[in-house]
Amino acid sequence: MSSERHSRQQIVRFGKMLHSRGYVAATDGNLSVRLDKRHILATPTAMSKGALRPSDMVIVDFEGRRVSGRHNVSSEIAMHLLIYKLRPDVNGVVHAHPPTATGFAAAGIALDQPLVCEVVIGLGSIPLAKYGTPGTPELCETLKPLISEYDAILMSNHGVVTYADTLEHAHMKMETVEHFAQIALVTHLLGRQQPLDDEALRKLLVARSKYEGSHSAAPLPLADCYGSANGGQSRSSRRLASPDSAKTRSHSR
Ligand code: 13P
Repeated sequence: MSSERHSRQQIVRFGKMLHSRGYVAATDGNLSVRLDKRHILATPTAMSKGALRPSDMVIVDFEGRRVSGRHNVSSEIAMHLLIYKLRPDVNGVVHAHPPTATGFAAAGIALDQPLVCEVVIGLGSIPLAKYGTPGTPELCETLKPLISEYDAILMSNHGVVTYADTLEHAHMKMETVEHFAQIALVTHLLGRQQPLDDEALRKLLVARSKYEGSHSAAPLPLADCYGSANGGQSRSSRRLASPDSAKTRSHSR
């Protein structure tokens, strides 16, 4: 866990990056960092994430009560707190609306096809959570079944949330989701997809355990275990267990 001063600067830095790349517009998005066992540092509500100052951030406890800061905290703080509660390995959370990935989320399509080897290693697949009204407990209910298993989730008709051991890695996962969504979109435009086969996937899962780019304590399965928003059925039934998934699963809960 990083110092409060550093965390404030990190949120400013990654907020600017989200804004400059068009992953958020207007006052969209929110970011947070776990400061210690009882406190979260989060972005204020209704402010551009491209123009934040370190002093704009808000510290809340695990009930979402403001401990310090002159602004009101993000309207999505309950989602951040749920992720920190369910994932002790997570110290940074990023929520944004990157256009291509959010397009998939608005079309009701999970990013759960194993089309790109690096994405299989780093994220497994990216499931689609059902729609929940922003800023309400409904939204948390839609995410709850997925948080322990995955590090990146598409939120139907809304956006994307990613989380990791550090805010920097959570931001990288957001970049990976949007980049993969762009690649997946190209395969849709080409009218053809060539998913990796089971043998290639088994080899990748072995590689994942040795790969430095994969920092997750979650199992990161290769298919959506929850189902898509438009029918509750996953389009891919492939679900290979990673060699160390049993170990990581118990570690992550
Ligand atoms: P906040 O400004 O309250 O964090 O809300 C932004 C957002 O993206 C809600 O989904």
